[in-house]
Amino acid sequence: MIKKESIEALKSRVDIVDLIGSYVELKRSGATYKARCPFHDERTASFNVNPIRGYYYCFGCQAKGDAIDFVMRLERLTFEEAAQKIANLYNVSLEYESGANLKRRDYRPLEALKKLFLEELGRNAQAQEYLRSRGLSEEIIERFEIGYAPESHLQLDFLRREKIPFETAQETGALAQDEGGRLFARFTKRVTFPIYSHNGAIVGFGGRTLANHPAKYINSPQSEIFDKSRLLYALNVARDFILKQKTAIVCEGYMDAVMLHQAGFSNAIATLGTALTKEHLPLLKRLDNPEIILSYDSDAAGREAAFKASRLLAAHNFKGGVATIEGGKDPAELVASGAVETLAKAYKDAKSFAKYAIENIVDRAASPDTALQEAQAFLDELSPLLAEETARYAAAKLGTDRRRFKIRSDQTPPPPTILSGRRDVGELALIKTLSLDSEMHANMIDYLNPALFSVHRNLYEALLNGDFTALYALQSEERIGIMKTEEALTAARRLMLIFCEKEARLLREDRQAERLKEAQRAIMRLKSGESIPFRRF
Ligand code: UTP
Ligand code: MN
Repeated sequence: MIKKESIEALKSRVDIVDLIGSYVELKRSGATYKARCPFHDERTASFNVNPIRGYYYCFGCQAKGDAIDFVMRLERLTFEEAAQKIANLYNVSLEYESGANLKRRDYRPLEALKKLFLEELGRNAQAQEYLRSRGLSEEIIERFEIGYAPESHLQLDFLRREKIPFETAQETGALAQDEGGRLFARFTKRVTFPIYSHNGAIVGFGGRTLANHPAKYINSPQSEIFDKSRLLYALNVARDFILKQKTAIVCEGYMDAVMLHQAGFSNAIATLGTALTKEHLPLLKRLDNPEIILSYDSDAAGREAAFKASRLLAAHNFKGGVATIEGGKDPAELVASGAVETLAKAYKDAKSFAKYAIENIVDRAASPDTALQEAQAFLDELSPLLAEETARYAAAKLGTDRRRFKIRSDQTPPPPTILSGRRDVGELALIKTLSLDSEMHANMIDYLNPALFSVHRNLYEALLNGDFTALYALQSEERIGIMKTEEALTAARRLMLIFCEKEARLLREDRQAERLKEAQRAIMRLKSGESIPFRRF
């Protein structure tokens, strides 16, 4: 049990707009914020968040509650799990009533190591020389707290001196374990870039090798707290500028973001070695829905990433566009060579996402017919207004008649979704996750069975049968989240628990003492957090 005072302290620390805004796209509306309700299917925004009173309320489905309640519902967590998750996000320690020994993450090791890395940079001429050679100024190195991670043993000694248990450091991903069970520092002989979550807690590092390690960059390992698809590098520094300028420059690399700041583009941020994904979008939207300028590398990979991101951003109605740079491989190189004017012009001339996407579709298509089809598929993703404008552009580009494209009007009802009718969000999220991650499904297959899905048995059967058309609607249903491995395992355990409890009830009625005992043993094991393969009793 978490102490009551601890819960109160947590609630007072959490900005509910900030928290909910990291899950759904909130729009300010007077004193409150609005969104489409994540708990029921709707086209209008009936979901309200009141920052002053710290609660949310949906006029459509009457869902309401505080920040903890929101996370419980959306992530299907228990009260304690939800509170702990929020505490981790906000870097708050929760106190538990004695007796309880729930594990929790402690991010102080990262703060401590960040300081060590700063000191080490001060002591390391080679690392300093490297940063100078890349064109970084003293001031910018300081602003971004860039450091240097020394050999492993020096970090272990440091943690010992600071009385930071290795186990806690390991939980943050700063230490890892080799096959013999020995701990070692994950970041060694690397220039380090601390990474902050959207609410200002340090959650990990990026590191560039100075020792010609084959992995040029590494990041902290993926975890509940360090989730690359929900983090943007440099957001801690860029946030206020983005709000003021109502524009954000999104680039690919740490160096790009840092160098752009040095050149005066203080609204630059970067994804962490991943493509821009749907999960990033709420993070961007909640910066007052800024215009986005994509500034990717000029190589083929960069252009491919820009194409994908432009489709995504157009489909989500973001303003802005793709900047094409010439005269260097990436923004960092352009800044280092003094070509700031070139960059500024490229940003001013950014091509709108929809136009950029259409140009790419047309250029890549094998024939005019496929171009037409693919352009139509893209138009279908857009709002009617944008689709109309883009159809004209596409028609001109293809030298064809605008009327060859069909635009759905605002009045057409949305396509039927799996959200209509009886549904179970937990089951749906699990099936969606497994349908998108066959490796995870393979690993979990023994723990699952159609019989566990009391509402969506057919869908799970479709997945087992490889009938993907049946899963398509679910896969594209944005409001059903994707689970991480841990969450999927927990969800499977819950389904098995419900199943066992049902079996136990029947066995009790039938006075089947032996089999009942077995079912009860399974229930105990499940309740203690153990996964057990599916079986009947
Ligand atoms: P780049 O290879 O474009 O990085 O990767 P860069 O900034 O141009 O590299 P240098 O330092 O100038 O040589 C862009 C981003 O992709 C991720 C990192 O986040 C990097 O900033 N990345 C790249 C990795 O995660 N691992 C890698 O091995 C390489
Ligand atoms: Mn690059």
